[in-house]
Amino acid sequence: MNDDKPIYAIENLIIDLYATSVSVRAVDGVSFSVRPGETVAVVGESGSGKTVMTLGPLGLLPEGVTVAMRGTAQADGSDLIGMGSRQLSELRGRYFGVIFQDPMSALNPMLKIGPQLARQARRFAGLSHEPARRQAVSLLARLGIPDPEDRYHRYPHEMSGGMLQRAMIALALAARPRVLIADEPTTALDATVQAQILELIRQIQREEGIAVVLVTHDIGVVASVADRVIVLYAGQVAEEGTAMDVLTRPVHPYTRGLLASVPDFRSDERATTREIPGLPPSQIRLEPGCRFADRCELVEPGCRKHRPPLQTISLSANPHRLACPVVIRRDGHRLHV
Ligand SMILES: Nc1ncnc2c1ncn2[C@@H]1O[C@H](COP(=O)(O)OP(=O)(O)O)[C@@H](O)[C@H]1O
Ligand SMILES: [Mg+2]
Repeated sequence: MNDDKPIYAIENLIIDLYATSVSVRAVDGVSFSVRPGETVAVVGESGSGKTVMTLGPLGLLPEGVTVAMRGTAQADGSDLIGMGSRQLSELRGRYFGVIFQDPMSALNPMLKIGPQLARQARRFAGLSHEPARRQAVSLLARLGIPDPEDRYHRYPHEMSGGMLQRAMIALALAARPRVLIADEPTTALDATVQAQILELIRQIQREEGIAVVLVTHDIGVVASVADRVIVLYAGQVAEEGTAMDVLTRPVHPYTRGLLASVPDFRSDERATTREIPGLPPSQIRLEPGCRFADRCELVEPGCRKHRPPLQTISLSANPHRLACPVVIRRDGHRLHV
């Protein structure tokens, strides 16, 4: 793994969505980066901005909502924010593979599966006709699709949910991307298929040195595949660190609550589920101070006055970022400067 040089780096990303009469600050000053061969998981409750943060810079948010973005998203020497749509579509096709929750948001229902893959490889990886066809068949085979020569000629509606999910991953990999963005890629699948698909993504990632940004609300998935974790709360990063550190010694009150509210991911026995009381704040009216204050066990008056800075602390030998001055002070964490 190349530890120094990010292959995709988001800095101070702010994304406002305008729908009919209201505006929502869905992403509020997020920074993160990912390196070749690394898997970064993005976790957080539903509505915390995971999808907007990962699909927004790629220009893949649903139509019908007006999107205003600030900050930078650097890939391949260019900034995706503010890039013209043709250039963005070219960079996206060549550099990024995207796995959606719903396979049909990526696959064209009117085209056979194989030709869709081959077209992607011709258009973005510069393969000629026959090599593109051969690569498509071999990708389908690699993704565990039985009888790939036959499936090559099938339409999406002729395939089952699990097979479509695999075909979509094949499509995401067809142009040999450097960065794979996966938004809850296995949520709709049963546990066995889910594990197989994650293992496939991991294998291919290792072989090709692809960076993976994996959005998931499944802590078990994080534990099994992520190198690093970003915990998002109401559009802001609450905590970030290695998967090991975040899962075994979370420090942000929100992360602690999030982990306590899932069945114990380290054992088969289902621990008692404990929800974090309360709901995430409205992202329509932006209050100063910590977004988690109203639900936090450790809240102090100062928490409501200033936005907590994301500070680097020395939790273990690995970098760890935390947006909670109260925890830093109470637990005596050393700030890393
Ligand atoms: N199409 C949309 N129109 C209006 N608001 C949206 C739209 N998509 C997402 N949002 C808002 O943006 C915020 C972040 O949503 P999202 O990124 O989808 O969360 P997550 O993926 O973490 O569940 C939420 O407050 C949500 O209500
Ligand atoms: Mg989402």
